[in-house]
Amino acid sequence: MDIKCLIIVYSYHHNNTAKIADVFSKILNALVKAPDQVTLEELQEYDLIGFGSGIDSGRHYKPLLDFADRLPETNKKSSFIFSTSGVQGKAKVAKDHSLLRQKLQLKGYIIAGEFSCKGYNTNHFLKYFGGMNKGKPDSEDLKHAEEFASNLLKELTLKTI
Ligand SMILES: Cc1cc2nc3c(=O)[nH]c(=O)nc-3n(C[C@H](O)[C@H](O)[C@H](O)COP(=O)(O)O)c2cc1C
Repeated sequence: MDIKCLIIVYSYHHNNTAKIADVFSKILNALVKAPDQVTLEELQEYDLIGFGSGIDSGRHYKPLLDFADRLPETNKKSSFIFSTSGVQGKAKVAKDHSLLRQKLQLKGYIIAGEFSCKGYNTNHFLKYFGGMNKGKPDSEDLKHAEEFASNLLKELTLKTI
């Protein structure tokens, strides 16, 4: 069975998260849309939904979190979470993802995987010093994104056969 996937991404600072979404879309053969381009009805057509954005104040961007609040309940639909951020670290990313994770789980989504990597950041005073993580996500990050999506696809395909 072919897994039908939609990727919902909100990315504005340097389009860092959009670059990751593009890699996912190729591997998962998925459409990429911004939250305001998605109708709640069309979500029923998909087996797997990816939710991603940059991180602001330790959480996903507000338009994505607001979208998660509007989601109808599902019965264990598969999903995945992703982000790019200025600062990484296993515990920090887990915390950054926690609010979106909670919101999705509350609506009945299963989180099949989570991905995050560094993104170029010129927020606030950083812009006066050339920003942090210049060039990120880089080719290595895009390769990791590709591996993440391939593994996810393999796992979900195994579950459906
Ligand atoms: C207003 C603002 C707030 C941010 N807050 C955080 C933060 O709390 N933690 C962090 O690690 N990065 C933070 N960043 C860095 C962004 O998450 C990072 O640059 C991200 O890759 C931007 O994604 P985008 O280009 O897809 O919008 C912030 C950036 C902006 C512009």
